[in-house]
Amino acid sequence: MKEYLEKLPQEIKDLVYLISDTACREDTAVYLVGGFVRDLILGVKNLDVDIVVEGDGISFAEKLSVRLNAKLVSHKRFGTAVIMVKPHLKIDVASARNEHYPKPAHLPIVSSGTLREDLYRRDFTINAMAISIGREAFGRLIDFFCGKRDLFEKKIRILHNLSFIDDPTRIFRAIRFEKRYNFKIEPLTLKILKESVKLNMLHKVQPQRLREELILILKEERPLVYIKRIQALAGLDFIKPGLCLSKKTYQLIGSLKKQLVWFKETYPQKRPIDEWLIFFIGIIDSLTIKDTQAICKKFVLRLGEEKRLLLYKEISRKFILNLCREKVRPSEIFAGFEPLSYEILLLLKAKYKGKAFQKHIKDFFEIYNGMRILISGHDLGALGVKPGPVYQKIFSKVLNAKLDGIVKTKDEELALIRKIAKIH
Ligand code: CTP
Repeated sequence: MKEYLEKLPQEIKDLVYLISDTACREDTAVYLVGGFVRDLILGVKNLDVDIVVEGDGISFAEKLSVRLNAKLVSHKRFGTAVIMVKPHLKIDVASARNEHYPKPAHLPIVSSGTLREDLYRRDFTINAMAISIGREAFGRLIDFFCGKRDLFEKKIRILHNLSFIDDPTRIFRAIRFEKRYNFKIEPLTLKILKESVKLNMLHKVQPQRLREELILILKEERPLVYIKRIQALAGLDFIKPGLCLSKKTYQLIGSLKKQLVWFKETYPQKRPIDEWLIFFIGIIDSLTIKDTQAICKKFVLRLGEEKRLLLYKEISRKFILNLCREKVRPSEIFAGFEPLSYEILLLLKAKYKGKAFQKHIKDFFEIYNGMRILISGHDLGALGVKPGPVYQKIFSKVLNAKLDGIVKTKDEELALIRKIAKIH
């Protein structure tokens, strides 16, 4: 595989050679493994360098992190460590291990093992290859389970029949790799996957683990394709029993993607959007507030995520109808949209296609959201207004007047606060 390694981007190639050199110095057997090897063969960029050490992975990671002068986080219980090389580049280090599942769908019990055992515990053949980068045979591919053949034949194949029973989150991983690389889950794997769905295996997994897999899926390039496949193969009962997406919801999710592309192209300077959250809200669009609350709790969503979800759910028909009118004062548009997050605004823009509503949201992003008043607390103080919550009220009145075009210059703002200050 030397020729593949040679083609890596320079910063990753340097890293691989440094790991190799450290392995030689320490006289330790070290291998590139997992998704990194898969993507190396496919020619896909991958900035997570995954290595397995036959022996003490944490001690090797410590030595490597010193040479790299990089931060190290280790998990003694699992014999793993992560080295943060750069914000976008990390090395996952693991000690070669054997896994044993005490109960289906539970986390495995880990013990040290050989490289073969370590590869055998993995999800799919395409993720179970290794490349030696130690002293012996630098660049040799180790492929016990015909992963390279499956890569070329574009097949997702499990290594043993209990794979989905041991770890049902692999159901989602199979779909993720299938759709990401345009592969096919091969027939026997598909049959076993369906059987494990029938055995309700997804309900036996800790919901947070399902949430993590779902988030990974919703972060992929074309989430709609993945969601359709999940509904077809596994159903969406794992989110809420009986949840089944209608054509309308699929259209909404499709439209969400378009809105995201529009937003990123039009406002590259605005803050990044939590894209997965938008799609997740889209998926559960038909559910009630109560069901949504229960889902937030079950999946242990973060407070900020839960807040945005519930805020969206609480938007009333009256609110929408009001903002669907053609003639709405800018200050009203601002008051309506300002408390909502960008994620919710994009959801609303995807859902309510009326011309006037679309214009109001665009105007909000383009004009109203960035509008600032020119007066300050200093000006209010000069007029003898005592500092306190009243300042905020006055600023808000001036901003509304500015949004509605009643005041334009600083002098006009000052004239207005003189008027308001008299009242206060
Ligand atoms: N793995 C597994 N079973 C899982 C999760 C991970 O066997 N449920 C193994 C696979 O060999 C995988 C490796 O651990 O290649 C690393 O996992 P992860 O980083 O989650 O996935 P990647 O394969 O690197 O995929 P991605 O490109 O999505 O990061």
